[in-house]
Amino acid sequence: MRLGVDFGTTRTTVAQVDRGNYPVVAFEDENGDVQDFIPSVVALDGDTLVFGARAHELALQGAPHLRSFKRLLSDPDVTPATTVRLGNRDVTLLILVTRFLEHVASCVRANSSVSEVPADEPLQAVVGIPAHAYSAQRFLTLEAFRAAGFEVLAMVNEPSAAGFEYTHRHGATLNTRRRRVLVYDLGGGTFDASLVAVEGRSHEVLDSRGNNLLGGDDFDQVLAGLAAAAAHSSPAELGETAWQELVDAARAAKESLNPHSRWLTVEVGHQPVSLDVAEFYRAVDPLIAATIDTMAPLTQRLEDGSQELAADVAGLYVVGGGSDLPAIARQLRQTFGRRVHRSPHPGASTAIGLAIASDPDAGYTLRDQLSRGVGVFRERESGAQVSFDTLLSPQLRVSTSQSVSVSRTYRAAHNIGWFRFVEYTTTDDEGVPRGDVMPFGQIAFPFDSLLQGLGDSVPLDEVEVRRTEDGPMVREEYTVDEHGIVGVSITDLGTGYSVHRNLGDHQA
Ligand SMILES: Nc1ncnc2c1ncn2[C@@H]1O[C@H](COP(=O)(O)OP(=O)(O)OP(=O)(O)O)[C@@H](O)[C@H]1O
Ligand SMILES: [Mg+2]
Repeated sequence: MRLGVDFGTTRTTVAQVDRGNYPVVAFEDENGDVQDFIPSVVALDGDTLVFGARAHELALQGAPHLRSFKRLLSDPDVTPATTVRLGNRDVTLLILVTRFLEHVASCVRANSSVSEVPADEPLQAVVGIPAHAYSAQRFLTLEAFRAAGFEVLAMVNEPSAAGFEYTHRHGATLNTRRRRVLVYDLGGGTFDASLVAVEGRSHEVLDSRGNNLLGGDDFDQVLAGLAAAAAHSSPAELGETAWQELVDAARAAKESLNPHSRWLTVEVGHQPVSLDVAEFYRAVDPLIAATIDTMAPLTQRLEDGSQELAADVAGLYVVGGGSDLPAIARQLRQTFGRRVHRSPHPGASTAIGLAIASDPDAGYTLRDQLSRGVGVFRERESGAQVSFDTLLSPQLRVSTSQSVSVSRTYRAAHNIGWFRFVEYTTTDDEGVPRGDVMPFGQIAFPFDSLLQGLGDSVPLDEVEVRRTEDGPMVREEYTVDEHGIVGVSITDLGTGYSVHRNLGDHQA
């Protein structure tokens, strides 16, 4: 079955491909409550790691827990060996994310609105990644999804995915004069704005701006503060547990607002307090203004200091769960006018776009449309570090009548080489892939001649990777054939041992 999976900082959302429709998957928790997301939370239940809705409950009861662990991935120096502390345990980030995604997979299979998925049916997914993610985050995210049992078809920048959803719903607003979409994504903990170019069916992020310290959570804090003040109390007076309960109550009250709401009620220490919704909106006005300010480089500033959308922007697309608050679309329309469009499912827009990207019948295939590069992630120092090398740059001219080859020769420094190939759309100044990244196959090559002699009798993933001083000379050759299929040959020039593989076969 084909899916779009948006692993979010606060919520993980899944949409499904169902004969041209992309319904959001609903999950049932232990209490029989249904929600269209899985909380991105992990907690310790005694010695056991638990995830999602159960972890959220345990966290409220004071169990050791971690929220927002996706944030930890955004450190450029993160590696598969990076650990995080949970209670009195150290867990590697890779294992933590993998186990969380295993939980997501098992929820999809067993506790969701998707009718029972047979155990042998693969979960084929297009997964999201923040547009500004470094290659380390892209690599770890890919690895975790794969290790969790997903067959990853592609990894797509989150704003590109929202762009897919926009094109799907508002394709008519795009024309030769208006080929860009400005995506406004207010999540739980972060705000991102991205300018997405739409060229036919391809979507590419041209530029983005963000604020990693501004999200829906901040609106909850403001509301909780107003409620506390109305009850003549304060966070300090309430103490941490009661304040946290109040923030959770504020979030629930905020999420229940509709455009006609006049009053809202929150309990402060079991005492119901009523607040004027207009007062709440006035109090969050500076937060909304801050998002508009963050977007300024992507819009046009007028002489009087106000902003407008550039003439070639078809729409400002308002997505992300945090932007479900009625005051936000209202303020954006006041500033930018009629080109503001709100996603009908703001919290699920990215997941829906990813599902669209995973649907071959939707015709939004990324690969055919984009000039792509091919590169390889290599693990160095026995897996403690990851490096990225460009093999075929996106600018490489390929021909429809003959093949093109590039090769490199070097001395091997390990007993085994692990090559994880990816395709990508763009790289940053330092040459690390920043655009959409698609896994493209992997090869383990034995540089040690003893291992070469053993053939398949010893699986290479069971052999420890070691540095060697006297490795053989190795030649890698990459060929793009006239159909655009990339083949790789790796040869030990000493023994003649060679491996050949076409990359990307799993998507054929
Ligand atoms: N109906 C609603 N009205 C207002 N806010 C809402 C509503 N539903 C959800 N939210 C808010 O949306 C936020 C979560 O949004 P979303 O699921 O897009 O975040 P995320 O993808 O996990 O986070 P991020 O994008 O920061 O990584 C929370 O702050 C939540 O309170
Ligand atoms: Mg998000």
